[in-house]
Amino acid sequence: MENFNQIESNILNKIKNVNDRNSYDSIKTEIFGKKGIITELFKKIGSLNQSEKKEYASKLNSLKTKITEILEKKLTDFNQSEINKKLENEKIDVTLPGRTYFAGKIHPVSQVIDEVTSIFSEIGFSVEDGPDVENEYYNFSALNTPENHPARDMHDTFYLDRSKDLLLRTHTSPVQIRTMLKSKPPFKIIAPGRTYRHDSDKTHSPMFHQLEGLHVDKNISMGHLKGCLYYFVKKFFEVEKVKIRFRPSHFPFTEPSAEVDIGYKIHNGKIKIGEGDKWLEILGCGMVHPKVLKNVKVNPNQYQGYAFGVGIDRLAMLKYEINDLRAFFESDIRWLEFYGFDPLDVPTNYRGLSR
Ligand code: DAH
Repeated sequence: MENFNQIESNILNKIKNVNDRNSYDSIKTEIFGKKGIITELFKKIGSLNQSEKKEYASKLNSLKTKITEILEKKLTDFNQSEINKKLENEKIDVTLPGRTYFAGKIHPVSQVIDEVTSIFSEIGFSVEDGPDVENEYYNFSALNTPENHPARDMHDTFYLDRSKDLLLRTHTSPVQIRTMLKSKPPFKIIAPGRTYRHDSDKTHSPMFHQLEGLHVDKNISMGHLKGCLYYFVKKFFEVEKVKIRFRPSHFPFTEPSAEVDIGYKIHNGKIKIGEGDKWLEILGCGMVHPKVLKNVKVNPNQYQGYAFGVGIDRLAMLKYEINDLRAFFESDIRWLEFYGFDPLDVPTNYRGLSR
Protein backbone atom coordinates (compact mmCIF):
# COMPACT_ATOMS: atom_id res chain seq x y z
CA MET A 1 0.00 0.00 0.00
CA GLU A 2 1.06 3.60 -0.65
CA ASN A 3 2.93 5.40 2.07
CA PHE A 4 0.32 8.03 2.90
CA ASN A 5 2.59 9.82 5.36
CA GLN A 6 5.16 10.28 2.66
CA ILE A 7 2.54 11.50 0.19
CA GLU A 8 1.16 13.94 2.74
CA SER A 9 4.54 15.45 3.54
CA ASN A 10 5.30 15.80 -0.22
CA ILE A 11 2.03 17.66 -0.74
CA LEU A 12 2.59 19.86 2.31
CA ASN A 13 6.04 20.77 0.99
CA LYS A 14 4.52 21.93 -2.26
CA ILE A 15 1.82 23.94 -0.50
CA LYS A 16 4.43 25.63 1.68
CA ASN A 17 5.82 27.45 -1.35
CA VAL A 18 2.46 28.83 -2.40
CA ASN A 19 2.58 32.60 -1.96
CA ASP A 20 0.22 34.10 -4.53
CA ARG A 21 -3.00 33.35 -6.35
CA ASN A 22 -1.24 31.94 -9.45
CA SER A 23 0.90 29.43 -7.60
CA TYR A 24 -2.16 28.53 -5.51
CA ASP A 25 -4.17 27.69 -8.65
CA SER A 26 -1.48 25.58 -10.20
CA ILE A 27 -0.81 23.63 -6.97
CA LYS A 28 -4.53 23.01 -6.57
CA THR A 29 -4.66 21.53 -10.09
CA GLU A 30 -1.56 19.49 -9.35
CA ILE A 31 -3.33 17.94 -6.35
CA PHE A 32 -7.01 17.88 -7.25
CA GLY A 33 -7.03 18.34 -11.05
CA LYS A 34 -8.01 15.61 -13.53
CA LYS A 35 -4.58 14.10 -13.27
CA GLY A 36 -3.85 15.42 -9.79
CA ILE A 37 -2.06 13.46 -7.11
CA ILE A 38 -5.16 12.84 -4.99
CA THR A 39 -7.40 12.24 -8.03
CA GLU A 40 -4.99 9.55 -9.25
CA LEU A 41 -5.00 7.91 -5.84
CA PHE A 42 -8.80 7.75 -5.91
CA LYS A 43 -8.73 6.15 -9.35
CA LYS A 44 -6.73 3.26 -7.89
CA ILE A 45 -9.42 2.20 -5.45
CA GLY A 46 -11.25 0.10 -8.05
CA SER A 47 -8.21 -2.10 -8.67
CA LEU A 48 -7.57 -2.92 -5.04
CA ASN A 49 -8.59 -6.16 -3.42
CA GLN A 50 -11.23 -6.23 -0.73
CA SER A 51 -8.82 -6.56 2.19
CA GLU A 52 -6.84 -3.41 1.26
CA LYS A 53 -9.73 -1.28 0.04
CA LYS A 54 -11.18 -0.17 3.35
CA GLU A 55 -7.96 1.02 4.97
CA TYR A 56 -6.76 2.64 1.75
CA ALA A 57 -9.99 4.54 1.21
CA SER A 58 -10.14 5.74 4.77
CA LYS A 59 -6.51 6.99 4.74
CA LEU A 60 -7.02 8.64 1.40
CA ASN A 61 -10.23 10.37 2.56
CA SER A 62 -8.63 11.82 5.64
CA LEU A 63 -5.66 12.99 3.56
CA LYS A 64 -8.07 14.64 1.14
CA THR A 65 -9.95 16.39 3.96
CA LYS A 66 -6.76 17.64 5.57
CA ILE A 67 -5.31 19.02 2.35
CA THR A 68 -8.63 20.62 1.37
CA GLU A 69 -8.79 22.44 4.71
CA ILE A 70 -5.23 23.69 4.41
CA LEU A 71 -5.89 24.97 0.88
CA GLU A 72 -9.10 26.71 1.94
CA LYS A 73 -7.30 28.45 4.75
CA LYS A 74 -4.64 29.62 2.29
CA LEU A 75 -7.36 31.00 0.04
CA THR A 76 -9.06 33.06 2.75
CA ASP A 77 -5.65 34.42 3.82
CA PHE A 78 -4.99 35.53 0.24
CA ASN A 79 -8.37 37.19 -0.06
CA GLN A 80 -7.92 39.03 3.23
CA SER A 81 -4.47 40.29 2.33
CA GLU A 82 -5.77 41.46 -1.05
CA ILE A 83 -8.53 43.45 0.71
CA ASN A 84 -5.98 44.92 3.12
CA LYS A 85 -3.73 45.95 0.23
CA LYS A 86 -6.65 47.60 -1.51
CA LEU A 87 -7.69 49.49 1.60
CA GLU A 88 -4.12 50.64 2.13
CA ASN A 89 -3.93 51.99 -1.44
CA GLU A 90 -7.28 53.73 -1.26
CA LYS A 91 -6.65 55.36 2.12
CA ILE A 92 -7.53 59.10 2.25
CA ASP A 93 -6.21 61.43 4.95
CA VAL A 94 -9.28 63.36 6.02
CA THR A 95 -7.53 65.35 8.76
CA LEU A 96 -6.59 69.03 8.29
CA PRO A 97 -3.00 70.07 8.75
CA GLY A 98 -2.38 71.80 12.10
CA ARG A 99 -2.70 75.59 12.29
CA THR A 100 -1.06 77.99 14.69
CA TYR A 101 -3.42 78.90 17.55
CA PHE A 102 -3.59 82.55 18.56
CA ALA A 103 -5.22 83.11 21.93
CA GLY A 104 -7.03 86.44 22.02
CA LYS A 105 -7.10 88.69 25.08
CA ILE A 106 -9.95 90.48 26.81
CA HIS A 107 -9.50 94.26 26.84
CA PRO A 108 -9.20 95.77 30.36
CA VAL A 109 -12.35 97.86 29.70
CA SER A 110 -14.36 94.73 28.84
CA GLN A 111 -12.87 93.00 31.87
CA VAL A 112 -13.91 95.85 34.18
CA ILE A 113 -17.43 95.92 32.67
CA ASP A 114 -17.72 92.19 33.39
CA GLU A 115 -16.41 92.71 36.91
CA VAL A 116 -18.80 95.55 37.82
CA THR A 117 -21.74 93.73 36.23
CA SER A 118 -20.94 90.70 38.34
CA ILE A 119 -20.67 92.80 41.53
CA PHE A 120 -23.93 94.70 41.03
CA SER A 121 -25.95 91.76 39.80
CA GLU A 122 -25.25 89.99 43.07
CA ILE A 123 -27.13 92.71 44.96
CA GLY A 124 -30.10 92.82 42.63
CA PHE A 125 -29.21 95.31 39.90
CA SER A 126 -30.10 94.36 36.35
CA VAL A 127 -28.28 95.62 33.26
CA GLU A 128 -29.80 98.18 30.89
CA ASP A 129 -28.62 99.55 27.60
CA GLY A 130 -29.18 102.74 25.60
CA PRO A 131 -28.08 104.14 22.23
CA ASP A 132 -24.78 106.00 21.72
CA VAL A 133 -26.58 108.44 19.42
CA GLU A 134 -29.02 110.35 21.61
CA ASN A 135 -31.10 113.48 21.36
CA GLU A 136 -31.13 116.53 23.59
CA TYR A 137 -34.24 115.44 25.46
CA TYR A 138 -32.77 112.24 26.92
CA ASN A 139 -29.21 113.52 27.27
CA PHE A 140 -30.09 116.91 28.83
CA SER A 141 -33.67 118.19 29.12
CA ALA A 142 -35.26 115.20 30.85
CA LEU A 143 -32.28 115.20 33.22
CA ASN A 144 -33.21 118.69 34.37
CA THR A 145 -30.52 120.35 32.24
CA PRO A 146 -32.48 122.85 30.14
CA GLU A 147 -31.08 124.78 27.21
CA ASN A 148 -28.65 127.53 28.32
CA HIS A 149 -27.86 125.57 31.49
CA PRO A 150 -24.10 126.02 32.14
CA ALA A 151 -23.68 122.24 32.65
CA ARG A 152 -24.30 121.75 28.95
CA ASP A 153 -21.05 123.59 28.20
CA MET A 154 -19.11 121.42 30.65
CA HIS A 155 -20.08 118.41 28.60
CA ASP A 156 -18.39 119.61 25.36
CA THR A 157 -20.98 117.82 23.29
CA PHE A 158 -20.41 116.35 19.83
CA TYR A 159 -23.50 117.38 17.87
CA LEU A 160 -24.15 115.19 14.87
CA ASP A 161 -26.85 117.27 13.26
CA ARG A 162 -28.37 120.23 15.06
CA SER A 163 -31.41 120.32 12.80
CA LYS A 164 -32.21 116.70 13.59
CA ASP A 165 -31.28 117.18 17.22
CA LEU A 166 -28.82 114.29 17.22
CA LEU A 167 -25.74 114.10 19.43
CA LEU A 168 -23.34 111.53 20.86
CA ARG A 169 -24.39 110.97 24.46
CA THR A 170 -22.08 112.77 26.87
CA HIS A 171 -22.88 110.43 29.76
CA THR A 172 -24.80 107.23 30.49
CA SER A 173 -27.44 109.13 32.50
CA PRO A 174 -29.97 109.18 29.59
CA VAL A 175 -30.37 105.44 30.23
CA GLN A 176 -32.00 106.43 33.55
CA ILE A 177 -34.70 108.27 31.60
CA ARG A 178 -35.17 105.51 29.03
CA THR A 179 -35.47 102.88 31.77
CA MET A 180 -37.98 104.81 33.85
CA LEU A 181 -40.16 105.72 30.86
CA LYS A 182 -40.26 102.08 29.83
CA SER A 183 -41.92 100.69 32.96
CA LYS A 184 -43.03 101.37 36.53
CA PRO A 185 -40.99 101.72 39.75
CA PRO A 186 -39.15 100.21 41.55
CA PHE A 187 -36.02 100.48 39.38
CA LYS A 188 -32.68 98.95 40.24
CA ILE A 189 -30.38 99.03 37.25
CA ILE A 190 -26.85 99.64 36.05
CA ALA A 191 -25.96 100.72 32.53
CA PRO A 192 -22.38 100.40 31.29
CA GLY A 193 -21.54 101.96 27.94
CA ARG A 194 -19.65 104.33 25.68
CA THR A 195 -19.82 108.08 26.14
CA TYR A 196 -18.35 110.97 24.13
CA ARG A 197 -16.93 114.41 24.85
CA HIS A 198 -14.74 116.88 23.01
CA ASP A 199 -11.68 116.26 25.13
CA SER A 200 -8.31 114.54 24.66
CA ASP A 201 -5.20 114.26 26.84
CA LYS A 202 -3.43 111.74 29.06
CA THR A 203 -6.51 111.18 31.21
CA HIS A 204 -9.28 112.14 28.75
CA SER A 205 -10.29 110.55 25.51
CA PRO A 206 -13.08 111.71 23.12
CA MET A 207 -14.71 108.31 23.61
CA PHE A 208 -14.70 106.82 27.08
CA HIS A 209 -16.83 104.53 29.22
CA GLN A 210 -19.20 105.11 32.09
CA LEU A 211 -21.27 103.02 34.39
CA GLU A 212 -24.62 104.46 35.41
CA GLY A 213 -26.45 103.23 38.49
CA LEU A 214 -30.05 103.94 39.47
CA HIS A 215 -32.11 102.67 42.38
CA VAL A 216 -35.62 104.08 42.82
CA ASP A 217 -38.06 102.69 45.37
CA LYS A 218 -40.11 103.76 48.40
CA ASN A 219 -38.06 105.07 51.31
CA ILE A 220 -34.68 105.11 49.59
CA SER A 221 -32.22 107.42 51.34
CA MET A 222 -28.66 108.67 51.04
CA GLY A 223 -27.75 105.88 53.49
CA HIS A 224 -28.60 103.30 50.84
CA LEU A 225 -26.39 105.12 48.37
CA LYS A 226 -23.46 105.10 50.79
CA GLY A 227 -23.94 101.43 51.64
CA CYS A 228 -24.10 100.49 47.97
CA LEU A 229 -20.97 102.44 47.04
CA TYR A 230 -18.91 101.09 49.98
CA TYR A 231 -19.89 97.58 48.97
CA PHE A 232 -19.02 98.25 45.34
CA VAL A 233 -15.61 99.86 45.97
CA LYS A 234 -14.51 97.08 48.37
CA LYS A 235 -15.59 94.33 46.00
CA PHE A 236 -14.12 96.02 42.95
CA PHE A 237 -10.69 96.73 44.41
CA GLU A 238 -10.76 93.39 46.24
CA VAL A 239 -9.82 94.95 49.59
CA GLU A 240 -11.18 94.38 53.09
CA LYS A 241 -11.16 98.01 54.18
CA VAL A 242 -11.70 101.16 52.20
CA LYS A 243 -11.67 104.90 52.83
CA ILE A 244 -14.36 106.86 51.03
CA ARG A 245 -15.13 110.56 51.13
CA PHE A 246 -18.36 112.19 49.96
CA ARG A 247 -17.80 115.77 48.79
CA PRO A 248 -20.75 118.09 48.17
CA SER A 249 -21.08 118.82 44.48
CA HIS A 250 -23.63 119.79 41.89
CA PHE A 251 -25.37 117.88 39.15
CA PRO A 252 -28.65 119.18 37.66
CA PHE A 253 -30.28 115.73 37.91
CA THR A 254 -29.54 115.05 41.60
CA GLU A 255 -30.30 116.88 44.82
CA PRO A 256 -28.29 116.67 46.99
CA SER A 257 -25.28 115.77 44.83
CA ALA A 258 -21.88 114.49 45.81
CA GLU A 259 -18.59 113.47 44.34
CA VAL A 260 -16.89 110.44 45.81
CA ASP A 261 -13.17 110.15 46.45
CA ILE A 262 -11.32 107.06 47.56
CA GLY A 263 -8.29 107.10 49.81
CA TYR A 264 -4.99 105.76 48.49
CA LYS A 265 -1.25 105.86 48.96
CA ILE A 266 1.77 105.13 46.84
CA HIS A 267 3.81 102.24 48.25
CA ASN A 268 7.04 101.13 46.52
CA GLY A 269 5.96 102.98 43.40
CA LYS A 270 2.59 101.20 43.36
CA ILE A 271 -0.82 102.59 44.15
CA LYS A 272 -2.54 101.07 47.19
CA ILE A 273 -6.30 101.61 47.36
CA GLY A 274 -8.08 101.98 50.70
CA GLU A 275 -5.13 103.26 52.74
CA GLY A 276 -3.16 106.48 53.02
CA ASP A 277 -4.04 110.14 53.04
CA LYS A 278 -4.34 110.91 49.35
CA TRP A 279 -7.74 111.22 47.65
CA LEU A 280 -8.83 110.35 44.16
CA GLU A 281 -12.19 111.19 42.61
CA ILE A 282 -13.94 108.17 41.12
CA LEU A 283 -17.61 109.02 40.67
CA GLY A 284 -20.51 111.44 40.84
CA CYS A 285 -23.75 110.63 42.62
CA GLY A 286 -26.76 111.94 44.48
CA MET A 287 -30.48 111.59 45.17
CA VAL A 288 -32.52 111.67 41.97
CA HIS A 289 -33.97 115.19 41.54
CA PRO A 290 -37.79 115.33 42.01
CA LYS A 291 -38.04 117.13 38.65
CA VAL A 292 -36.38 114.16 36.93
CA LEU A 293 -38.86 111.79 38.55
CA LYS A 294 -41.74 114.01 37.43
CA ASN A 295 -40.37 114.02 33.87
CA VAL A 296 -40.72 110.24 33.76
CA LYS A 297 -44.13 110.18 35.47
CA VAL A 298 -42.89 108.88 38.80
CA ASN A 299 -44.44 110.57 41.84
CA PRO A 300 -41.58 112.05 43.93
CA ASN A 301 -43.80 112.08 47.02
CA GLN A 302 -44.05 108.32 46.85
CA TYR A 303 -40.71 107.36 45.37
CA GLN A 304 -37.14 108.43 45.95
CA GLY A 305 -33.92 107.12 44.53
CA TYR A 306 -30.21 107.49 44.26
CA ALA A 307 -28.08 107.51 41.13
CA PHE A 308 -24.39 107.43 40.37
CA GLY A 309 -22.04 107.63 37.40
CA VAL A 310 -18.57 106.05 37.41
CA GLY A 311 -15.77 106.36 34.88
CA ILE A 312 -15.03 102.78 33.85
CA ASP A 313 -11.71 103.54 32.15
CA ARG A 314 -10.55 105.31 35.28
CA LEU A 315 -11.44 102.26 37.37
CA ALA A 316 -9.45 100.07 34.99
CA MET A 317 -6.44 102.43 35.14
CA LEU A 318 -6.47 102.41 38.93
CA LYS A 319 -6.99 98.72 39.44
CA TYR A 320 -4.58 97.52 36.76
CA GLU A 321 -1.97 100.29 37.06
CA ILE A 322 -2.27 101.62 33.54
CA ASN A 323 -1.22 105.26 33.42
CA ASP A 324 -2.09 106.43 29.92
CA LEU A 325 -5.75 106.37 28.93
CA ARG A 326 -5.03 106.90 25.23
CA ALA A 327 -3.35 103.48 24.96
CA PHE A 328 -6.75 101.90 25.71
CA PHE A 329 -7.99 102.89 22.29
CA GLU A 330 -4.87 102.58 20.11
CA SER A 331 -5.46 98.89 19.32
CA ASP A 332 -1.81 97.99 19.83
CA ILE A 333 -1.74 94.21 20.01
CA ARG A 334 1.41 94.23 22.19
CA TRP A 335 -0.34 96.46 24.72
CA LEU A 336 -3.31 94.11 24.76
CA GLU A 337 -1.02 91.09 25.16
CA PHE A 338 0.42 92.74 28.25
CA TYR A 339 -2.68 94.24 29.89
CA GLY A 340 -5.36 91.90 28.50
CA PHE A 341 -7.12 89.05 30.30
CA ASP A 342 -7.61 85.37 29.60
CA PRO A 343 -10.92 84.95 27.70
CA LEU A 344 -11.69 81.74 29.58
CA ASP A 345 -11.26 83.37 32.96
CA VAL A 346 -14.67 85.03 33.30
CA PRO A 347 -14.99 87.25 36.40
CA THR A 348 -17.43 85.97 39.00
CA ASN A 349 -18.05 86.91 42.63
CA TYR A 350 -17.58 83.42 43.96
CA ARG A 351 -14.46 82.42 41.96
CA GLY A 352 -12.83 85.83 42.14
CA LEU A 353 -12.97 88.85 39.91
CA SER A 354 -9.49 89.32 38.55
CA ARG A 355 -7.39 86.39 39.74
N1 DAH B 1 -23.56 111.99 34.46
C1 DAH B 1 -22.53 112.54 35.28
C2 DAH B 1 -21.30 112.82 34.43
O1 DAH B 1 -21.28 112.53 33.33
C3 DAH B 1 -22.15 111.58 36.36
C4 DAH B 1 -23.25 111.39 37.34
C5 DAH B 1 -23.35 112.20 38.45
C6 DAH B 1 -24.19 110.44 37.13
C7 DAH B 1 -24.35 112.04 39.37
C8 DAH B 1 -25.24 110.26 38.03
C9 DAH B 1 -25.29 111.08 39.14
O2 DAH B 1 -26.16 109.34 37.87
O3 DAH B 1 -26.31 110.90 40.04
O4 DAH B 1 -20.35 113.34 34.91
